[in-house]
Parts: sequence; C-alpha cells; structure tokens
Amino acid sequence: MSMKIPFLNHKPLNQSHQYSEHDTPEHIAIVMDGNGRWARKRGLPRVAGHKAGVSTVVKIVKAAVKFNVKVLTLYTFSTENWKRPKPEVDTILRLPKEFLHLYLPELISNNVRIEAIGDMGSLPAHTREAIQFAIDRTRDNDGLLLNFALNYGGRSEILNAMKEMFSDMNEAKLSLDELDEQRVSKYLYTAGLPDPDLLIRTGGEKRLSNFLLWQLAYTEFWFTDVLWPDFSEKEFLHALEEYRQRKRRYGGV
Ligand code: IPE
Ligand code: IPE
Ligand code: MG
Repeated sequence: MSMKIPFLNHKPLNQSHQYSEHDTPEHIAIVMDGNGRWARKRGLPRVAGHKAGVSTVVKIVKAAVKFNVKVLTLYTFSTENWKRPKPEVDTILRLPKEFLHLYLPELISNNVRIEAIGDMGSLPAHTREAIQFAIDRTRDNDGLLLNFALNYGGRSEILNAMKEMFSDMNEAKLSLDELDEQRVSKYLYTAGLPDPDLLIRTGGEKRLSNFLLWQLAYTEFWFTDVLWPDFSEKEFLHALEEYRQRKRRYGGV
C-alpha cells in the first residue's frame, strides 16, 4: 500500500465505454484469488501478495467505472479464511481500512457507492468501522456500487436467511404461501441487487469456494490462471468480450 496508484482520472461516468447497455454485465462478481502464490513466486511472504492485490482492486474498480458496470462484488474474505494463520488474517482485515484511507475521496468524487455483504458483526471493530464509514459517506452516490464480500459465506448467508424466515413465520409476519424465490432473495445479504451476470475467478482454481451460492444460479463463469496481483484491465476486458459472445438461455432454446 506504499505506492500511490493513479486512480480514476475523474473521467465522467457513462462515457468512454464501448459497450451498449445490453452487452455489458450489470453485475460482476470476482473471486480475487492467487495473492499467496504470487508472493511465493517472488520469495515474499504471503501478506505481500495481499498488499499487491489492493493495487489490482483499484485498477479493476477504475475499469468497472469506465465500462459502466453497475455492481462489482469483490470476494475479499470468506468465512473459511479464518482458518489461516492469525498474522495473515490480521493483515487481510486491515486492508479495507488502508484501501479506503487512500482511495475513499476519489471513490466519492467518482460517484461510487460502497456496500458490504457478510457477517460484519464478527469482524474486528477497525475493519467494521472503516467499512461503515465508507458506506455512510457514499450512501447517496448512484454510480458504480462497489460491494465488498467480507466474512462472507454462501451457506451461512442462506442459513441466516432461513432463520429469519422461520422467525418471521413464527411471528406471523410471513406465511408459507407468500414464500417464493423472490421473497427468499429479500432475506439474503444481496437483497435488492440483481444476480451477477458474470463471475470472474483469478488464480486458476475452478470452484466457488462458498461464494454467492443462491445468486450464481444462472451466472456466466469466466476463469483465468492469472494471479490476482497480475490481473489487469486488459484481462478484465477479455472477460467482458467473452461474456458478450455467450448466449444466455436460462433453460430456454
Ligand atoms: C486470495 O488469495 C485472497 C484471499 C483469500 C483473502 P489467496 O491468499 O487465497 O492466494 P493463494 O490462493 O494462496 O495463492
Ligand atoms: C476464496 O479464495 C476466497 C476469497 C478470494 C476471499 P480461497 O483461496 O480462500 O479459496 P480456496 O480455499 O482455494 O477454495
Ligand atoms: Mg486462494
């Protein structure tokens, strides 16, 4: 986080993108994987990879604004990542604050709104407070929605939703007849957001790792071996171009 990265260059929104509304995924979700391997290849500690990965976040947010993406959901820390050595967990959970300290003013001036999904309650106070501050400060912005999945797990999200639904049923706020897929979506962390159109996973693994299990039902998947710190606007564009070639049928013909 020591270097200063040229950021959004204050390009007005809705300009300089070459895709029509229809061709651009409205919601892109990214599993930002490969930080540890990137560092190991260079003989560096894993945490150096996480720090380098922050620079990629900046680049990809900039690209998402440029290409008029509406929602960008970034898998930042999973409910399973607590299994890692404590110093690594501590470093990862300090990065949101460092990122926001450096870039929040530019995000604000570029009309970016920040949100978070996951179990915020179990995060360290400094992480939670930095995110909450950014959410509050960007609440009225209506450009790119930058959504951090932090202490996020798909199964835990669904389980929480089930508990809330049962509780609402017990209190007669919800009846079994009213329960349909739309209603379930409203109980998830992503309530009100469109499902992702495109899922990108860097780092070569081809799995979901408990990410957005409900929401990815009809999402297009795009995988690359490129490690997250090496991921660039060029790769991102490549994913968008491939998305454009896909024929989404949703079970139809
Ligand atoms: C992804 O990179 C970042 C987080 C999970 C927080 P990794 O740390 O998983 O990197 P690899 O997969 O070990 O290379
Ligand atoms: C997924 O990456 C979680 C994030 C990118 C935050 P992991 O590196 O934790 O996934 P696995 O362990 O390889 O499945
Ligand atoms: Mg990994």
